[in-house]
Amino acid sequence: MLETNNLGVAELKVEGKTIELPLFEGSEGEKAIDIRALRKETGCVTYDPGFVNTGCCKSEITYIDGEKGILRYRGYDINDLAEKCEFVDVAYLLIHGVLPSKTQHEEFSTLLNTHSLLHEDMRHFFNSFPDHAHPMATLSAMAVSLSSFYPELEDTSKQENIDYKVTRLLSKMRTAAAFSYKKSIGHPIVQPRHDLKYCENFLNMMFSTPVNNYQVDPVVSKALNKLLILHADHEQNCSASVVKMVGSSDANLYASISAGICALWGPLHGGANQHVIEMLEKIIVEDGGNVKKVIERAKDKNDSFRLMGVGHRVYKSYDPRAKVAKQMCKDVLAQLGVSDPLVDLAQELEAAVLADDYFQSRNLYPNIDFYTGLTYRAMGIPTDMFTVMFAIGRIPGWISQWLEMKEDPHGRIGRPRQIYTGPTKRAVS
Ligand code: SDX
Repeated sequence: MLETNNLGVAELKVEGKTIELPLFEGSEGEKAIDIRALRKETGCVTYDPGFVNTGCCKSEITYIDGEKGILRYRGYDINDLAEKCEFVDVAYLLIHGVLPSKTQHEEFSTLLNTHSLLHEDMRHFFNSFPDHAHPMATLSAMAVSLSSFYPELEDTSKQENIDYKVTRLLSKMRTAAAFSYKKSIGHPIVQPRHDLKYCENFLNMMFSTPVNNYQVDPVVSKALNKLLILHADHEQNCSASVVKMVGSSDANLYASISAGICALWGPLHGGANQHVIEMLEKIIVEDGGNVKKVIERAKDKNDSFRLMGVGHRVYKSYDPRAKVAKQMCKDVLAQLGVSDPLVDLAQELEAAVLADDYFQSRNLYPNIDFYTGLTYRAMGIPTDMFTVMFAIGRIPGWISQWLEMKEDPHGRIGRPRQIYTGPTKRAVS
C-alpha cells in the first residue's frame, strides 16, 4: 500500500483565517502538504504553472532525488539495473513490483513472443502514411489502433488481461517501430522471430534484408538493452502524466499510451535526443564546430533557443542516466570501431556548460538525451527514430504508472483548476 508517515499539520493563514492542513512524508523523506480541503476551507485554489511544486499522487514505482542525482525503479538503483539486468526483466519489475523468477521470466518472454506479430491489416497503415512521415506519428497511430483490433480484455482487474495488454504493447510497438523504419527506406518488412530475444529481434527487424546475412552484433544488442533500461520510467514526467490523465477518464490503456507517445515527441521532452544531434550537426555546418555561439544563444533571453539535452525539471545535478549514457557512448563507439566528430563536439559543449556560470547558477547539466542519440547513431539507428527508441523503453514505465493510478483508492478523473482573468460579464450588443 502507499504508506506515508504523518508529520502533524501545516498552518496556513488566509485573509485572517488560519487553517491546518495535514503534513506527511514518503518512504524517502519527501514531505507534502495535503491540500485536498483547501478550497472548501479557504475558497482558494493553488497556482502552480507546470506543476513544479504539485504532487499528483503517491507512488511506489520510481524514486528520484534530483539534488543527489539518484534514480531507483522499485528501490533498485539505475546503475545496478543497467549493469545486471535485461530490459524485459526491468519491464516486469516496473509492472509487477518484483524482478521475475526464472519461471516468470519465461512466461513473460513467451507472451512477448506470442504478441510480437502485427495484425496483417495494421501493416497496411504504413502504406497510408507518406514516406516522410515521422515514426512517432506512426507509432502513436499504431498504439491507439490496438484498441480496435483487440477490444477485449478491457477488465484490468484480471491479471491475465493485464499481462496480455502489457506484452501486446511492449512487443507490437517494437515491431511497428521496425516496420516504420523499413517503410521509410522502401525495404521489405522483416517479421519478428521466435528464436531471438527482445533486443536482438528488434535489431534483426531493423537491419536484416533478403540480400544480407545480417548477424546481430552482441555489442549493439547489449547497448540497446542498457539504453532501454535507462529510459524505462521516470515517475511523473510529462508523458507519464498524459498517460495517466487520459486513463483517469477511463479511456483504455492503448489510447492512453498513444497520447503519451505524442507528449514524448515534443523537443522539450523525449524529442530532445533527436534535436541534440541536429544541434551538434548545425554547430559543425554553420559555426565550424565552434560551441561559443550556441552557448551565447542559449544564454540570450531574447533568443528562444534552448541547449538541447541540457537541463531538467527535477535533476539539479548531473542526470545519473546521462553519466551511464556518456560512458556507454564511448565504450560502444570504441567496440564498434566507430569514430564520430559529434562525440568530441558533444564533450566540448558539455565542458563549456559545466564551466559557465549561467548554467551552473541554474543547476543545468546534461540530461538523458545529451549522449543517447550519439550511441543510437553509432548503432545505425536513424535520427528520426531516436524518440521512438525512447518510447519503446518508456512503455513499461507508462503502463506501471497507469495501472497504479487505476488501483489508487484516491484516484479521480484529472481536472486541474484555473484562475480566470478574462472579460467580466458583458452582453452581445
Ligand atoms: C526529458 O521530466 C522528466 O523526467 C523528463 C525526462 C524523462 O525521463 O521522462 O527526464 C526526459 O524530457 C529530459 C529533458 C529533455 N529536454 C531537453 O533537453 C530540452 C532542453 N531543456 C529545457 O528546455 C529545460 O531544461 C527543460 C524543459 C528540460 C526543463 O524546463 P523547466 O524545468 O521548466 O526549467 P525552466 O524552463 O524553468 O528553466 C529554468 C532556467 C530558465 O532561465 P531563467 O528564467 O531562470 O533565467 O534555466 C534556463 C531557463 O531559461 N534553462 C535553459 C535550458 N534549460 C533551462 N537555458 C538554456 N538552455 C537550456 N536547455
